Amino acid sequence: MKKITLHTLQTLKQQQQPFAVLTAYDATFAALIEKAGIDVILVGDSLGNVIQGQESTVPVTMDDICYHLQCVKRGSQKTLVIADMPYMSYATEEQTYHNAALLMQSGANMVKLEGGDWLKQTIKGLSERGIPVCAHLGLTPQSVDALGGFKVQGRTDAAAEKLINDAKALEQAGASLLVMECVPAALAKKVTQQLSIPTIGIGAGADCDAQVLVLHDMLGLNVDFKPKFVKNFLQETQGDVLEALSLYAEQVKQRKFPTAEHSFD
Ligand code: KIV
Ligand code: NA
Repeated sequence: MKKITLHTLQTLKQQQQPFAVLTAYDATFAALIEKAGIDVILVGDSLGNVIQGQESTVPVTMDDICYHLQCVKRGSQKTLVIADMPYMSYATEEQTYHNAALLMQSGANMVKLEGGDWLKQTIKGLSERGIPVCAHLGLTPQSVDALGGFKVQGRTDAAAEKLINDAKALEQAGASLLVMECVPAALAKKVTQQLSIPTIGIGAGADCDAQVLVLHDMLGLNVDFKPKFVKNFLQETQGDVLEALSLYAEQVKQRKFPTAEHSFD
């Protein structure tokens, strides 16, 4: 069983072969996700929403992420695991290094943090210390109150230009991956073409190098939550979970998901 590494993902980008990412929070789903051929698991702070029933990711703590990360690690062997750095866990340099180290020691292969070019020094420091970083731009849920709600980002010319410049700055600072959440498909495509690191989209169109969804969303488990970018894969497989996960992997790899119907312009 060959371990998936950053090098694997970098090669996939060069080959223009999209890869699939999915969130997981426990060992059972981590094992199914690995079986389904999904290359990367994100232990996302979306666990605040889908596991804890919170209204945002703001209440999620380091202890929460570490607990679910350890659960996920027991269920997966070869999948690359990214762990979210939760709200305010990277506010100062000292906190950043301390918390990133805890995540790596709990089994993460990479940490993810939300924000633009103000994170340059943070990302540089982490990557210099051998901690791979996934950046996250666009709709950054930890700042939902500052953003004035959950909405599509980068829609004005100025905001689009800012996002492109942020993406370049974070790559330059040492980020190894970039998540773009809820941004127009054309903008995500532009960023993907201009970066050499793989981009991972959620509500960012089909032209990113990879796609990510929240597990509970793509299984349609919350019947009251149906954003445009989510597809219910469990419905397509008549309730077979492993098949639903495999279908997601397959459709991402064949660029059959997302379609324009799941994207913003
Ligand atoms: O926490 C999460 O699930 C995420 C993804 C939506 C990218 O950050
Ligand atoms: Na997150």
